[in-house]
Amino acid sequence: MEILVALGTIYEAERMIPVASVQIAGVSYDNLGEAGLEFLNDMAEGGGKARVLATLNPAGVDVENPEALGIDEGFARNQGRVIEAFARMGVLPTCSCTPYLFGNLPHYGEHIAWAESSAVCYANSVLGARTNREGGPSALAAALTGRTPAYGYHLDENRRPSLAVQVEASLCGTVDFGALGIVIGKEIEGSGKKPVPYVTGVREASLEALKSFCASLATYGGAALFHMQGITPEAALFAPPAETVTVIQADIEEAVASLNSARPEEVDFVSLGCPHLSIAEIARLTGLLRGRQVKKTFWITTSRPVKGIADRMGYSQAIEAAGAVFATDTCCVVSPIRGRYQALATDSAKACYYAASKNRFKTRFLSFDEVVQEALR
Ligand code: F3S
Repeated sequence: MEILVALGTIYEAERMIPVASVQIAGVSYDNLGEAGLEFLNDMAEGGGKARVLATLNPAGVDVENPEALGIDEGFARNQGRVIEAFARMGVLPTCSCTPYLFGNLPHYGEHIAWAESSAVCYANSVLGARTNREGGPSALAAALTGRTPAYGYHLDENRRPSLAVQVEASLCGTVDFGALGIVIGKEIEGSGKKPVPYVTGVREASLEALKSFCASLATYGGAALFHMQGITPEAALFAPPAETVTVIQADIEEAVASLNSARPEEVDFVSLGCPHLSIAEIARLTGLLRGRQVKKTFWITTSRPVKGIADRMGYSQAIEAAGAVFATDTCCVVSPIRGRYQALATDSAKACYYAASKNRFKTRFLSFDEVVQEALR
């Protein structure tokens, strides 16, 4: 509660409000180290218990299958200690950035306290729930108290759009929506005002396209909320703001090109699932891989509940028979693989950003199907 009061004081919150659920980030031992683990153990030993539904972001390793990803045994053991500390506090060890796909699904208008920038953007914008971008400690504090200070995106006045974005480009799949996130994100960054964008001109957007857009917009623009006319629920409450920018096809193409730093022959690592794959994406992937053999390291990152459905459908078996590897509970960003590969091929703009900045990989930013073809080449 002291953490939350301090936060509320900084942001001039007038009161605390109850939250319905929490998503906690900062789970990878790669980020936490011993100091972070000690903090978690102190909280657990002090009797800390989650008072509301609390789920966990990806860890640094597939906790049930660390060898498959070539992660050091010592790291896997320490990662296990982190997850155990959270579990002792009653936090569900879901280890996924898409909690809304399997049970932590807030409803419209509900106050929540989520960390994980892509999930925050999805919860605020696509679901219409209300959360700020929490950090690991403030999300844990919200889980243990069931409260958060009422400021930022919990308040009506801060959810109003202030920048209209007219999209005059046709968008197809996760890569184009990721590219749109880059273009709008850079506009937000460049404005220096952190406007809430109101996007018009997008005719349809699948769940998968929106999760890709959310991850990209949060990464390149630090955005936690957008409205999309005809697609997201709160857009109906507002008219487009007067200040308008236009996004044309060339902007999308330029954004895609900006993440293609690697030549095709340099790619030695392929990954799909940033944010974690939905079951529909795994079904599509199965169709593309069935009866074929991949030639490169190919990580399929998803949550354990979605992997469970894939197992029951026979999808996992077909994917593994093709030589791809499930990286359940983790992803190519939070896993300790810095410097292990030369170039990553992916359909995720967010994964490209961190591949370059954190892991020192070159990148190829391709459509979902092209990524699979890259693995087969
Ligand atoms: Fe999720 Fe990892 Fe991407 S946490 S959003 S798969 S960077």
